[in-house]
Amino acid sequence: MKRKNQVRGSEEPKLQYIGKSPEEKVLADIDLREAAFDRGEQKETGSASSKEDAPSNMLISGENRTALMELIRLKRSGKVVNRDGTHGVRLIYIDPPFSSNTTYKTKSNKKAYEDNLAGIDFIEFLRVRLILLRELLADNGSIYVHLDWKMSFHIKVIMDEVFGPENFLNDIIWHYGGRGAKAISGQFSRNHDVILLYRKDKHIFNKLYTIKEAGSGFQRDSDGRAFKTAPRGDYTDSSIKRLKAEGRIHTTKTGKTRIKYFLEESPDGVVDKRLVSDVWDDIPDGMHLGKSEKTGYPTQKPEALLKRIIETSTDPGDLVLDAFAGSGTTLVAAEKLGRQWIGIDSGEPAIETTRERLDRVGETERYEEDGKVPKRKYEKECGPYKLYKAHPE
Ligand SMILES: C[S@@+](CC[C@H](N)C(=O)[O-])C[C@H]1O[C@@H](n2cnc3c(N)ncnc32)[C@H](O)[C@@H]1O
Repeated sequence: MKRKNQVRGSEEPKLQYIGKSPEEKVLADIDLREAAFDRGEQKETGSASSKEDAPSNMLISGENRTALMELIRLKRSGKVVNRDGTHGVRLIYIDPPFSSNTTYKTKSNKKAYEDNLAGIDFIEFLRVRLILLRELLADNGSIYVHLDWKMSFHIKVIMDEVFGPENFLNDIIWHYGGRGAKAISGQFSRNHDVILLYRKDKHIFNKLYTIKEAGSGFQRDSDGRAFKTAPRGDYTDSSIKRLKAEGRIHTTKTGKTRIKYFLEESPDGVVDKRLVSDVWDDIPDGMHLGKSEKTGYPTQKPEALLKRIIETSTDPGDLVLDAFAGSGTTLVAAEKLGRQWIGIDSGEPAIETTRERLDRVGETERYEEDGKVPKRKYEKECGPYKLYKAHPE
C-alpha cells in the first residue's frame, strides 16, 4: 500500500518472519470471542460511585490480548469516550517486558513476572497487541512504546507497519543516569531507554518546558534582560542577520559572535526555561524514587516520566490506557492529573501493588506546577474505579 508522503520509488521495509499472523486474522479474532472479562464481577472501589456503563477508570486483571479485544468491542458500542465526546483512548503508554530473559521478583521475593520471550516470539507477541491497541486508540490519539536497546529497532519497523511511517513522531531517549554507570568491559555503559512515539492520525501535543534556576551563569543586556549565550554553530550569514535584527546576537570582547537566549524572571529569581526535546535527561531512574513513590515492584517507572507523557499528549478528562500496567505508575499519574484511566496486567502482584498504591494516592507528592508549588501531599482520595477479571485465553 502506498502511503502519503512516501518517497517516490521507495518500498517500505517490512519485517518478515515465520509465524507472522496476517493483520486481518488478528482483527478477525476480535469478533470471534465471547465477552473476555467478567463485568458481572466488577467491584466498585474508591471514594464515590461511578457512572453506569462508563469504562472510565478500569483495572483489569488478566492477559491483555483478551482484555484489549473486549475493550475494542466496548469502543465499537460507543462506551469508550473521552470527556470531550470523542471515542477511543487518547493516550496509550506501554512498558512491556524488554526480552531480558529475567524473572522479576517483588521486594518480598514473590515472582512478579517472567520476561522470557525472545526473537520472533517477542516481536509477534508485541505486534499482535500493537494492532489491537491501534484499534482502541482515538483518531487523534498517541501511543508511547517503552523499550531498550534489545528490541527497540525491531519494534520501530513493526510500529511503521502497524501505524504507518508518516505517523511516527519521535524516538525519545530517556537518559536516566545512575544504574548503567557500572563498568561494562569493552563497551560504553548503557544509560538509556528508548520510547517510540506514534499517533493514530492526528494528535494532541501540549508543549512542555523544563525550568531550572539560572544560577549565576548569565549576563544582562542594556535593557536589563537576562540572557545566556551559545556558540554560533551552523547558523548561516542570513540567519545571523535575522537574529541580529531581533536583538539575539552577542559579540564577545574578543569579537566572537554568539547567539543570545533570553531567560525568564520569576519571583524566585532568573530561570532557564527550555522546551522539552526528544532527549529526557532530567528524570532519574526507578532506583532513585522518593519513599512515598517507591513500591518495591520491579521495573517500576517514575511518575515524573508518565506525568510528562500524559501532560504532553492528553487534556483533562481524556482516557489513558496502560496495557502492561505493572505497579500502576501510569494510572496514578493519570489520576493525579485528572484524566480517566484503564490499566491491565496479568500478574497478581502487579494488581495488588496498583490497588495499594491507588488507596494511598493522597499520601504521595502533589505535582509541582511550573516548579512553583512547594512539595506537599496530593491529599485527595483516589476516584472510583472498577476491577475486572479477564478470562484466560
Ligand atoms: C515492565 S513491567 C511494567 C512496569 C510499569 N510501567 C511500572 O511503572 O510499574 C511489565 C508488566 O507487564 C505485565 N505483563 C506481561 N505480559 C503481559 C500480558 N500478556 N498481559 C498483561 N500484562 C502483562 C507484567 O506482569 C508486568 O507487570
